[in-house]
Amino acid sequence: MIYKDKIAATIAQVVDLEVEAVQRILETPKDLKMGDLAFPCFQLAKTMRKAPPMIASEVAERLTPALQAAGVPVGSVQVVGAYINLFLDQQAVAKDVIATILTEKAGYGSADIGGGAHVTIDLSSPNIAKPFSMGHLRSTVIGNAQANLLAKIGYQPVRINHLGDWGTQFGKLIVAYKKWGSEAAVQQNPIPELLKLYVQFHDEAKADPSLEDQGREWFKKLEDGDQEAQQLWQWFRDESLKEFNKTYALMGIKFDSLHGEAFYNDKMDRVVNELEAKGLLVEDEGAMVVKLDEYDMPPCLIKKSDGATLYATRDLAAALYRQDTYQFAKALYVVGNEQRLHFRQVFKVLEKMGYGWAAEMHHIPFGMMLKDGKKMSTRKGKVILLDEVLQAAIADVKKVIAEKNPNLANKDQVAEQVGVGAIIFHDLKNYRMNDINFSWEEMLTFEGETGPYVQYTHARANSILRKAGYVESSDVVLPAGALEGAEAWAVVTLLLNFPNVIKRAGEEFDPSALGKWIIDLAQAFNKFYANVRVLAEEEAVKNARLQLVAATATVLHEGLRLLGLEAPAEM
Ligand code: ARG
Repeated sequence: MIYKDKIAATIAQVVDLEVEAVQRILETPKDLKMGDLAFPCFQLAKTMRKAPPMIASEVAERLTPALQAAGVPVGSVQVVGAYINLFLDQQAVAKDVIATILTEKAGYGSADIGGGAHVTIDLSSPNIAKPFSMGHLRSTVIGNAQANLLAKIGYQPVRINHLGDWGTQFGKLIVAYKKWGSEAAVQQNPIPELLKLYVQFHDEAKADPSLEDQGREWFKKLEDGDQEAQQLWQWFRDESLKEFNKTYALMGIKFDSLHGEAFYNDKMDRVVNELEAKGLLVEDEGAMVVKLDEYDMPPCLIKKSDGATLYATRDLAAALYRQDTYQFAKALYVVGNEQRLHFRQVFKVLEKMGYGWAAEMHHIPFGMMLKDGKKMSTRKGKVILLDEVLQAAIADVKKVIAEKNPNLANKDQVAEQVGVGAIIFHDLKNYRMNDINFSWEEMLTFEGETGPYVQYTHARANSILRKAGYVESSDVVLPAGALEGAEAWAVVTLLLNFPNVIKRAGEEFDPSALGKWIIDLAQAFNKFYANVRVLAEEEAVKNARLQLVAATATVLHEGLRLLGLEAPAEM
């Protein structure tokens, strides 16, 4: 709550405690009847040598004028046993919050914590010639929302798609393509076709191990810049990217950099030389590694015995490049939990290299996407393409619209926004470490904790405003009775909390805090609308209520935007 800091500071003054200590004790009661904040006085008994209820009465008496002097819109201060329950002046708060939102509009909740510093966000990062997995979807959705949140609190996010476009598998793919592939087939259906070739390679290599040697040879050629190898690789990359771009376009996601692993090929020597110069590189069974025994970790592999560099080497080179290019204040890696060890190793190696900024690198892990309790995998030959999942969601929403609102203008666009939004929200309403169950039903209903429900609530608020002929104004006048009552207050306190939720979600890398909050707001708003006649007879009352509707619509829109969802005005 926005007044909490001020209130804590005031209490600290009155009872002579550190502000931090007061912050720790101050409670936000679940039951609004116990006040908007409650301060238990047990801890003061020792120093004040009195019974806690007595202390509570004494402190409460001095607190009211002190709070007023500090400009906190306090309504009443009540003593219940050892507790001091603080009630805000609901009308003053409502007026204040609504006026602030109607003035600041989409800017409400912004903060300047980041001071414009860069934060690199490594997200999505699918592998070329392979299908976009559910894990990559989660990374894309979580990473994009996290980037939006960081921008909102004053950082400058840099979205980097660290494409998996390098490695021995490309040698194998070239061999397979030259033996069994066709240009037309790849062109027509790039990813399934390339995957098929890759699978075929492995099947045939069981009977004919010489294929593996050929694969290695072609990868070597690729590394050495052989023209044919390079051209094929580039083509596989372009075709795959075209496919991925369809998905990104549908989801409205743009990247600041598409430097994948291959980009670092000519930047690996620097890493190897530097590790050597710093005495960190040692030989281990023919390979070159950095030992991490003292941290209870296996060694970080830098070079294989045949001289080839590895995934970790490329991540080290990428980290140095990103620090050089962006001087990032933080570097985030939104990658599945199974790569936890990899990132711990990479960060440790950078630390051992003496880079203080390694302390500002964070792996943002997430759980798995499950279907019927099992990991959703891309089974051989039978691939679930993300693009198909998105299209299916959109088709489903189209059906609902045809049934519920057949006269809606731009139906197709809305269906796209809602179908895609459903998939994004399904992910973001859960804490990222939780595994999530892929369920069409749960994702697409217009009721319950779903994207469509929040989008629908936003559209509904807009339609109320349209029908009432609401005229925008940020002058808020609250006539008696306009916004009194628990339903209005529930909406107001949620709106009041928005800036804190944004700050917490952004700083703690937890977009789900916003996902959960926005469901609460949508529910509170619908309850308000069901119980309070917004289109009241009296003009001034109606206008005040419409202003609450307008403030809610604004914040729902901004919250959805931050999560990466569109907010259609009608649906
Ligand atoms: N392409 C990798 C994968 O699909 C993810 C890359 C994550 N980013 C990184 N800098 N390692 O597993």
